[in-house]
Amino acid sequence: MPQPEAKRVLITGAGSGIGRHLAIEASMRGMAVALCGRRHEALAASEALLDGGGRHLVIPTDVTRAEDRRRLVDEIGANWGALDILVNNAGVVHGGPHESTGDATFEATFATNVTAPMALARDFFPLLSASGHGRIVNIGSMFGDIAYPSFAAYSASKSALKGFSSALRREYGKRGVAVTYVAPRATQTDAASAFADLIRSSGMRLDSPDVVARRIWRDVERGKDSVYPPGVERLYVLIERLYPRLIDRALAN
Ligand SMILES: NC(=O)c1ccc[n+]([C@@H]2O[C@H](COP(=O)([O-])OP(=O)(O)OC[C@H]3O[C@@H](n4cnc5c(N)ncnc54)[C@H](OP(=O)(O)O)[C@@H]3O)[C@@H](O)[C@H]2O)c1
Repeated sequence: MPQPEAKRVLITGAGSGIGRHLAIEASMRGMAVALCGRRHEALAASEALLDGGGRHLVIPTDVTRAEDRRRLVDEIGANWGALDILVNNAGVVHGGPHESTGDATFEATFATNVTAPMALARDFFPLLSASGHGRIVNIGSMFGDIAYPSFAAYSASKSALKGFSSALRREYGKRGVAVTYVAPRATQTDAASAFADLIRSSGMRLDSPDVVARRIWRDVERGKDSVYPPGVERLYVLIERLYPRLIDRALAN
């Protein structure tokens, strides 16, 4: 059981990459972590890296399955009685020409990156409210602001998650549950293999997932509504809003 003062946080996709490092960093900050994802061994390997063993939960879950999500809510409720922070991190990335992307890829991308966070934000609302100061953290992407060619479905899913986060902040905020939208840039994880060609051709640098996780927790603990990487990416987001043709030209090259 967590200490009475320990924050209780659920992280989806906690078996690898950014999710694993969000879990490690949360445990270093004294939080009790529920790790969820489809692969039990990956979750167990993440749990073994956490501080404060014994206070964490491993709950294998496919977030695209309604019955798994129901069991997840029940298990968190039975173990903790309330939830302080829900981190919707699980995500899938697909890159490639749009004309050769099948329906199954569209559906899996939206089921994981959009529908699951929306359903979990709804189903955990009572437990987040019960904590007295709940927060939902949605892990989007820079692709949600700057849509990339050859990543149309992925960009669309992260843009949808961003819009959802803004609407939910306005709806849940006045009822005591805050919402943070996070837009990491390219990060060295398994998912990065999907944009290896883009990284090679653009000379894009990759952040390390531990640095990304530390930045996210720092800004979440400061109560930020959104988390963007430091540096030139913020300028690109502004240019995209004001002069999208400039971004069209840059990305076409
Ligand atoms: N890497 C980047 O450059 C980058 C940049 C910006 C944003 N992001 C976002 O960061 C998040 C984490 O990605 P990552 O880079 O850390 O990649 P990753 O290592 O591939 O992590 C994705 C995680 O999501 C889990 N997952 C996928 N489908 C799931 C499902 N149906 N149910 C439960 N869990 C599921 C996977 O675990 P299982 O396979 O065991 O289920 C995996 O642990 C994603 O939302 C991604 O879009 C990544």
